[in-house]
Amino acid sequence: MGDALLSTHAYSKSESLEYGELKMSNTIAIVDSRNGKQADLPIVSGALGDPAIDIAKLNKELGLFTYDPGFVSTCSTKSAITFIDGDQGVLLYRGYPIDQLAQHSSFLEVAYLLIHGDLPGPAQKTEFEHHVTHHTMIHEGLKLFMNGFHYNAHPMAMMVGIAGSLAAFYHDSLDPEDPQHRMITAIRLIAKMPTLAAACYKHSVGQPYVYPKNNLDYCSRFLDMMFGVPAEPYEVNPIAAKALDLLFILHADHEQNASTSTVRLVGSTGANPIACIASGIAALWGPAHGGANEAVLKMLNEIGDKSNVARAVERAKDKNDNFRLMGFGHRVYKNFDPRAKIIREMCHKVLNELGIHDPLLDVAMALEEVALKDDYFVERKLYPNVDFYSGIIYKALKIPVEMFTVMFAIARTAGWIAHWLEQNAAGDVKIGRPRQIYVGPKSRDYVPLGQR
Ligand code: CMC
Repeated sequence: MGDALLSTHAYSKSESLEYGELKMSNTIAIVDSRNGKQADLPIVSGALGDPAIDIAKLNKELGLFTYDPGFVSTCSTKSAITFIDGDQGVLLYRGYPIDQLAQHSSFLEVAYLLIHGDLPGPAQKTEFEHHVTHHTMIHEGLKLFMNGFHYNAHPMAMMVGIAGSLAAFYHDSLDPEDPQHRMITAIRLIAKMPTLAAACYKHSVGQPYVYPKNNLDYCSRFLDMMFGVPAEPYEVNPIAAKALDLLFILHADHEQNASTSTVRLVGSTGANPIACIASGIAALWGPAHGGANEAVLKMLNEIGDKSNVARAVERAKDKNDNFRLMGFGHRVYKNFDPRAKIIREMCHKVLNELGIHDPLLDVAMALEEVALKDDYFVERKLYPNVDFYSGIIYKALKIPVEMFTVMFAIARTAGWIAHWLEQNAAGDVKIGRPRQIYVGPKSRDYVPLGQR
């Protein structure tokens, strides 16, 4: 199966997932105006970012819950992996600015950084790449599983099932409390995700699966598995491999987004890491999250021409119309998405280098220009996000639209697993169990069927 054992060195290195301590700076008094009762709640802060009120004892002291649908003002955890300043447009992985990583690093180095907390030294980098490279094959039994899917199944539907099914092949190394199990599973997931993704694509076009080639780097290997056929040699375009690597860096992590929070919530139950990642893939699928890149391309195709841009912007502003400008807006970024800035430049560069003129890029630029000047978008601080341009690059790389969210899933696996490792290495996992405000019928008596 190509699963070389990890050296003891890989295990003996701690996952370096130590949390920084939360600092308590002050307290805030919450007074219940109904009865004058008061709770003094600690104000806690981390290394960067806004402080938070620690409300753990609120219910015990005042008999009150907090209500925050969508977690708009709620920190669900502390984490030392990624920091975002939405007002300043800052994104740091383990303290390193995203633009520096995009310029100098590689996806696998970033994956190491997210998992271990520091950039690898030369020997660590080589060892990590070696391990990932030697765990890329998937069990032949998975092919039978794949064959059960209809040829036109959406690749994300296949990914949710097929990634989750990996747990059935590695049930002897899924103990969340065992550091060796944790690390081997992290490596396996990062290594096998591109193999699974390419297999989903090959299934949809009816071509034979291409085995991973160890002599290629991570992204070239994926492109080879996607586009190679047994009938003739396939030469990976280094421009395409480099572009893909950069996109993977930009998508690798984004703190407590919906899919990562899902991974952590599932992880909090003690579920195995593969089940957790499969739940992350499912959460990513939605168009408000990872499905946005697919939705952007569909939207640009529908708009079709620069002359239709003004109409699209009007529709996006119309509250009676469900249409939204996909690739615009972000829950956290209220200035600009630093990833979008990098991707925008990259989009022009990649299309130039590949000699492609895509009219959709003209539509995207016109749309961006109109929206950025429009009061509706300005007032609501709606800027292009990471997915506004990523679809155009994927299209230039000949990745089919249905595979866009799968591409996001390959990259985000590094972030998901880093968060899962952080959660489990901390050793104090508390099951996630939000409360609710019940708004249903009050207690009532059962009515026998004949009397209803
Ligand atoms: N087009 C038109 N109006 C919008 C848009 C948009 N794309 N996004 C937000 N708004 C409006 C929204 O109608 C609301 O207006 P009002 O205050 O008048 O009711 C206001 O802006 C605030 O929007 P919201 O929905 O309350 O904001 P949110 O933080 O809950 O949602 C979002 C963030 C990303 C889900 C949303 O902006 C959106 O649906 N964008 C399009 C989908 C998209 O591109 N998603 C990818 C996000 S980046 C990749 C990732 O993290 O996965």
